[in-house]
Amino acid sequence: MQQTLILLKPDAVQRRLVGEVIGRFEKKGLRLVGLKLVKASRDLAEKHYAVHKGKPFYESLLTFLTSGPTVAMVLEGREAVPACRALMGLTDGAKSPPGTIRGDFGLSVQNNLVHGSDSPENAIIEIGLWFKPEELVSFTQTDATWVG
Ligand code: RTP
Ligand code: MG
Repeated sequence: MQQTLILLKPDAVQRRLVGEVIGRFEKKGLRLVGLKLVKASRDLAEKHYAVHKGKPFYESLLTFLTSGPTVAMVLEGREAVPACRALMGLTDGAKSPPGTIRGDFGLSVQNNLVHGSDSPENAIIEIGLWFKPEELVSFTQTDATWVG
């Protein structure tokens, strides 16, 4: 079953939107297999956003991600990567449609509340950055046959 790494970035924690945002993923049918609060180090943030190194927003992005606690989650489900990206919306909150997390709760490009892996391959890499294998818990969801 596909897994994805979701981060509730420091703005989501500071704005007390953690419960609201986790609830959206849960209601969609995704199941938690990992969950923790992390204050990301510069090293972890650099590895997580390595693809953006050299871009004009890179330093500001690292400062943002290391500025306070982040909720890190691994979610599992059918097509978890695209399903979570659809729930998140577009990168720019101002342009993200209503009904999406970024569209409902923000106007910023940088402070856009949530990160989601953009491919199953990157999800595996990102999960390895944020979680040790023993921190992930596999379990059978009792309503799995109804959810998909
Ligand atoms: P993410 O990786 O966090 O899920 O976001 P994304 O795929 O929608 O966007 P991406 O292009 O990967 O950018 C990563 C994060 O960098 C910040 N950003 N700032 N100031 C800017 O122009 C700018 N562009 C991107 C955002 O926090 C974005 O989520
Ligand atoms: Mg991205």
